[in-house]
Amino acid sequence: MITYSAPGRVNLIGEHTDYNGGFALPIALPQRTHVTFTPDDADTLTVLSDRADTPVTIALDTSPGRIHGWGAYVAGVVWALRDSGFAVPGGSMTISSDVPIGSGLSSSAALECAVLGALSTAAGLQLDRIDQARIGQRAENDYVGAPTGLLDQLSSLFGEVSHALLIDFRDVTVHPTPFDPDASGVTLLLLDSGQRHGHVDGEYAARRASCERAAAEMGVASLRDVQHRGVEALSALHDPVDARRARHVLTENDRVLDFVAACAELDFAAAGALFNSSHASMRDDFEITTEHIDLIADSAVAAGALGARMTGGGFGGCVIALVPTQLTLKVGDAVRAAVTDAGYAEPEVSRVYAAAGAG
Ligand code: GLA
Repeated sequence: MITYSAPGRVNLIGEHTDYNGGFALPIALPQRTHVTFTPDDADTLTVLSDRADTPVTIALDTSPGRIHGWGAYVAGVVWALRDSGFAVPGGSMTISSDVPIGSGLSSSAALECAVLGALSTAAGLQLDRIDQARIGQRAENDYVGAPTGLLDQLSSLFGEVSHALLIDFRDVTVHPTPFDPDASGVTLLLLDSGQRHGHVDGEYAARRASCERAAAEMGVASLRDVQHRGVEALSALHDPVDARRARHVLTENDRVLDFVAACAELDFAAAGALFNSSHASMRDDFEITTEHIDLIADSAVAAGALGARMTGGGFGGCVIALVPTQLTLKVGDAVRAAVTDAGYAEPEVSRVYAAAGAG
């Protein structure tokens, strides 16, 4: 029997930059998805999840469209491995997880990476982590049908205790960088709105299409290719919406590098200010926040957070805040009060930190 697990992630900063060849800075979370796998000679994989009543049986020669729902992430990994030329065994698999679903914490990448690790261990495959991330991404893009980038899989695979991962998506390199705000008396607070999102719907794809149109209109393959020219490069764009979307991406890339520099100097006030400007950019330029999410971020800052921003793909999910440790209870209480007063469900508040990657 093989056991394998992979974590969810929080993206500290750098949202919707991955598919634009930009920068992001995620951490892996302590919450993980665990897989146990008993291989056998069957030509199917039977999967039982602690979150579903009935098992899903996946033919090893599955193809996109055959399995839907949570099982599609598992089937997608089987398909992507086989389609890349790797034989995988059948057998029975059980899955359990404490990564919340639809919160922007990458429950899907945690599932893909845990399944991939178990299957490739059973098959004796030696895949490096970049290749594993690409297989997870193919499962999600081509089997599940969500046109997401590489951020989530890389975060889950490369996570390191007390480190954030500076990812450069142009050449797909991952640079672990120390991130331990607790040692400086600052807590990273996770505020889960409970508002659920799905990336298979059109909004994520529409943002991606806007960015690709903007790049094409400027005659470059990716928005990263005009990064050195700054936002002035965008004055040539005709569509004001595409221009705003692209402006978010270029300014967000700068904020990632500024955030890394602020953390290196243990300047969490500056890091917090970058959270705030990132949130404003997602709200005004990229238009992926919601009133509910804005209220959480604003009330955290009003109660003393150094900064707060939505994390993940958008349209719900979680806000993260950097909070002086002595203010964490006050900030949590203030956010709960503001959000329930406005008629939304009470958010779940927890402390998070950078944890280990898949293994
Ligand atoms: C989702 C996607 C990622 C990334 C983020 C936004 O999590 O899966 O690839 O695009 O949204 O930063």
